[in-house]
Amino acid sequence: MSEWTEDHLPDQRGRVAVVTGANTGIGFATARALAARGAHVVLACRDLDRARTAVDRIAQSAPEARLDVVRLDLASLASVRAAAEEIRERLPRIDLLVNNAGITGLRGRTGDGFEVQFGVNHLGHFALTGLVLDRLLPVPGSRVVTVSSIAHRYGRIDDVDDLRPARDTDTGARPENSVFTYARSKLANLMFTYELQRRLSAAGAPTTALAAHPGGASTEIFRNSPGWFRAPNLLIAKLLGRSPEMGALPTLRAAADPEARGGEYYGPGGLFEVQGYPRRVASSPRSRDADNQRRLWEASERLTEVIYPF
Ligand SMILES: NC(=O)c1ccc[n+]([C@@H]2O[C@H](COP(=O)([O-])OP(=O)(O)OC[C@H]3O[C@@H](n4cnc5c(N)ncnc54)[C@H](OP(=O)(O)O)[C@@H]3O)[C@@H](O)[C@H]2O)c1
Repeated sequence: MSEWTEDHLPDQRGRVAVVTGANTGIGFATARALAARGAHVVLACRDLDRARTAVDRIAQSAPEARLDVVRLDLASLASVRAAAEEIRERLPRIDLLVNNAGITGLRGRTGDGFEVQFGVNHLGHFALTGLVLDRLLPVPGSRVVTVSSIAHRYGRIDDVDDLRPARDTDTGARPENSVFTYARSKLANLMFTYELQRRLSAAGAPTTALAAHPGGASTEIFRNSPGWFRAPNLLIAKLLGRSPEMGALPTLRAAADPEARGGEYYGPGGLFEVQGYPRRVASSPRSRDADNQRRLWEASERLTEVIYPF
């Protein structure tokens, strides 16, 4: 198959999908496409007004769509726990969890004291996935898709000591560059996916874990980045025709292509993976270090106090 487009998205009727950060950008395009194919989509967003506006926009193009919203602020473990509880109460089963929400260009800490990009992009999703996993585990063909980035290549998590700056209580942490911390969080998204897949497979679970990246896409992602970084990135995305819809295709393929397998990573198939239609892509050697994946997992369980059932 040369070009995988939204037309290849299989019928989603009877499937239940939870998409984080679904009120705008790639998450919105993902939710809209899944809903248009008949999935019941839960938009898990930090701002309920923005989420409801997104629901109205989806309903305009897909009036039959079944849509719900749940408040989820990934910068707060208490909010993640409350959202997971609400999701578990409302959904007896989940076919698809899309860990899409993300931030870049921000410095500072989450309310729990984690470096903010690592906290939102990785730890929040690690906790959410662990807390709702029991709704996916009995479902044949269920998937967890986590959205990473080309930027993961510049990230480093050499050992657990490298995670120390992720805690407020740590001393001696070097001042951190927000580009580096974004890259680290996106590397963590991939390492989480690979370790989750290993554990699911070892447990004989029918659920699989996959990752995707959009290349670039003209979304709100650079809203907190300095102008010198935001302007050229958005210009390139626009020139390459990287709409949020194009950016969502790798996620959709990882989420629903019947040929896609656990542990795979999808991104644009064109030059430098910044444009083109989705295909399987390779991730950095650092993301493949199984020892570090396990250590990141154990550290994430410790930091979030969310313990997976395997
Ligand atoms: N666009 C690109 O070029 C690009 C490139 C590589 C990777 N990515 C990845 O693609 C994913 C989607 O990004 P996007 O480009 O669609 O960006 P976006 O337009 O900025 O959308 C990000 C979404 O994440 C949500 N979010 C942010 N902080 C949150 C929090 N604390 N709790 C819950 N939700 C939160 C936002 O909610 P609000 O609207 O309420 O802020 C928004 O819905 C991210 O993981 C990003 O790292 C994007």
